[in-house]
Amino acid sequence: MDLPLFAIQPQHVVMAKSLALNNLRVTVRPAVESDSPGILRCLHNAFAPYEQLYSPAAFLDTTLTAATVKERLAAMSVFVALTDADQIVGTLTGFQYSGQEGHLRGMAVRSKWQGTGVADLLLCTVEDHLRARGCSYITLDTTDPLKRAIQFYKRHGYEPTGKIGTYFGMALFEYKKDLGADTRIVRDDLAVTQRSKNAAIQRG
Ligand SMILES: CC(C)(COP(=O)(O)OP(=O)(O)OC[C@H]1O[C@@H](n2cnc3c(N)ncnc32)[C@H](O)[C@@H]1OP(=O)(O)O)[C@@H](O)C(=O)NCCC(=O)NCCS
Repeated sequence: MDLPLFAIQPQHVVMAKSLALNNLRVTVRPAVESDSPGILRCLHNAFAPYEQLYSPAAFLDTTLTAATVKERLAAMSVFVALTDADQIVGTLTGFQYSGQEGHLRGMAVRSKWQGTGVADLLLCTVEDHLRARGCSYITLDTTDPLKRAIQFYKRHGYEPTGKIGTYFGMALFEYKKDLGADTRIVRDDLAVTQRSKNAAIQRG
């Protein structure tokens, strides 16, 4: 089955969305505690290329541990993207930071699934989730080595705010997106359709 995947439905909470990749289906849903090992594997796989560019403490905080993933599941809305075989191939966390501000953390897609639209599906799902909770804008922080992520966020309408913090000895750059009149879901549908048609399906 080919796409389309997500219709324009910004005003309600979408609990699970699916993306068809040739003969494979990927579904995004809220994570449960038994997803923890898969979330850790996904984070480690996605961030492995950046380990040498991160401080050890920043890498540990980013890729989590059994204890910190449990804390995150308890305090925030963690989402996972998983195949029909129940392999977790992506994850993203969102939470209401304060008032109308939503915040994203822990964005990761396994390397073999990058460029397929899984990241788009995760991001749109969590944006819808935060929008439904009354957030009018979303912030996130990222680091200089994550060039691919920065490109991805810019395509989705995130812009640098100019705020630069520190993160275990690394510079941390804030990005923000207003959730107002938003047409990106339509554009992303088209983009993802094209990507999926072209995707080489040798996934693992
Ligand atoms: C960030 C991430 C989830 C994005 O998912 P993805 O499937 O790779 O995203 P996409 O392929 O849709 O988009 C990536 C963009 O970066 C571009 N890109 C690819 N390699 C790049 C590179 N080395 N440098 C800069 N941009 C790059 C792609 O062309 C694409 O841009 P485009 O949409 O303008 O064509 C995924 O790359 C990932 O898990 N990365 C490692 C973990 C990470 O960086 N997390 C973010 C934490 S803030």
